[in-house]
Amino acid sequence: MRNLTETNLTDAVLAKLESAPNLRFRQVMSSVITHLHACIREVELTEAEWFAAIQFLTAVGKKCDDKRQEFILLSDTLGASMLVDAMNHRTPAGATESTVLGPFHVPGAPALTNGANVASGFPGEPALFSGHVLTMEGNPIAGAQLDVWQADAEGLYDVQRSNLNGRQLRGKVHTNEQGKFWFWTVRPTAYPVPTDGPVGQILLNMGRHPYRPAHIHAIVTASGYEPVTTHVFAEGDQYLDSDAVFGVKDSLVVKFARHEPGAAPDGTVMKQPYFTVAYDFGLPAAKA
Ligand SMILES: [Fe+2]
Repeated sequence: MRNLTETNLTDAVLAKLESAPNLRFRQVMSSVITHLHACIREVELTEAEWFAAIQFLTAVGKKCDDKRQEFILLSDTLGASMLVDAMNHRTPAGATESTVLGPFHVPGAPALTNGANVASGFPGEPALFSGHVLTMEGNPIAGAQLDVWQADAEGLYDVQRSNLNGRQLRGKVHTNEQGKFWFWTVRPTAYPVPTDGPVGQILLNMGRHPYRPAHIHAIVTASGYEPVTTHVFAEGDQYLDSDAVFGVKDSLVVKFARHEPGAAPDGTVMKQPYFTVAYDFGLPAAKA
């Protein structure tokens, strides 16, 4: 194996995989090498361009820390996250559709009781989010967990504010015996994905805006059922048709209804206008 040329080099590299003991690894790596080489050939990549690509990936890695995941952002903005999601969650009709996890989920969000406020002290108009977690037959699932997180009215998550240490604008609520949950928050707003890193530069170079339509994230889990990682999006948002991470689905778009001051559906007396949003999550039975 010497004197390799641009016509036989790919085959030589692929041949090196023949002794890889893990067959799935061999399959995936063979595809990666095949497509990488094909890309290089197709565009006749220059040495300067290849080095720029290496510098870019290096910068993406250096931008990551315990609060910032630039690689997830890269995957999201290139549509890779939604493609993987779509192929891995071919949910039956009636099940809540999935969408991207995004880079701002933090494990270990605080446990909240129904009716709690996940956004206490944060800027934004109050909103009561309520709904049910249901089986495919429409029966309530008691004890289901919603791990929710969102940005505030300034478009920032807790981890983007350097003065915050705890886990805020996020929490875990559980459904009651009737399969119902409810919590207070603030009405989310559209926000740009972080543009101060290499992914922001890529978006700029592609001539794309960085905005995501307003949404609330949720991971819904229940024993004996398939979990779902999803969002609810605010109806009427100007970015619903141009989400920077390609995550919008019609079934996840909900109305944030505005109300004048008065008694909210959970009995809270509101002295200022507020919003209500309702969404029922449907979970299929766990695969055997
Ligand atoms: Fe988000």
